Amino acid sequence: MKRYISPSILASDFARLGSEAAGCEAAGADLLHIDVMDGHFVPNITLGIPVVKSLRKETALPFDLHLMISEPLRYIADFANAGADYITVHAESDGDTEEAVDLIRSHGKKAGVSVKPATPAETVFPYLDKLDMVLVMTVEPGFGGQSFMRDMLPKIAAVRAECRRRGLHTLIEVDGGITAETLPLAAQAGADVFVAGSFVFSAKDRAAAVAALKNA
Ligand code: DX5
Ligand code: ZN
Repeated sequence: MKRYISPSILASDFARLGSEAAGCEAAGADLLHIDVMDGHFVPNITLGIPVVKSLRKETALPFDLHLMISEPLRYIADFANAGADYITVHAESDGDTEEAVDLIRSHGKKAGVSVKPATPAETVFPYLDKLDMVLVMTVEPGFGGQSFMRDMLPKIAAVRAECRRRGLHTLIEVDGGITAETLPLAAQAGADVFVAGSFVFSAKDRAAAVAALKNA
């Protein structure tokens, strides 16, 4: 399976977001992971629609938006218009998740649904056929720099098994604590999109960090 690396801009220097984003592209990343937090769904606040719009001019990388917000239905249109490519909502957010997925697709964007560590894989099965991506959180969402939860590996495998059973080529993304050591575990379980914040942005040589993940 091809591996896609999606550096999380959350770990970058927010005073230099544009060049940080462009640097990810130069480093060989496949996607740019953008963590949107509202201080309500998670106990942290990051960035919003105007920032995504401004960043859109700085890199050609597809934008992988991770919406950690309570009311995704209210903001999907704005994020779509701001230049998102993938929009991932949380199954635990308010409102109907399938409605959010339909709304994302109606804007011509790729749709993802994310599950927090306590949410079972089966939650996404009723609308799995409509998804471009399932995001299995491997930490509690809210902050970068946490340790990978190995007990999420069976959940990744369960989503991959169900996709195989249905003949779906859905991307399975993992987010949280991804390093050259933990990536192979998630890959073996069936993940193919790897978010990496600290691992990429704390590296002196980001191209080497991205390559290390691709080859791990
Ligand atoms: C956490 C965010 C992650 C975070 C990952 O809620 O969704 O994308 O930036 O950071 P690392 O790779 O440092 O765990
Ligand atoms: Zn994320």
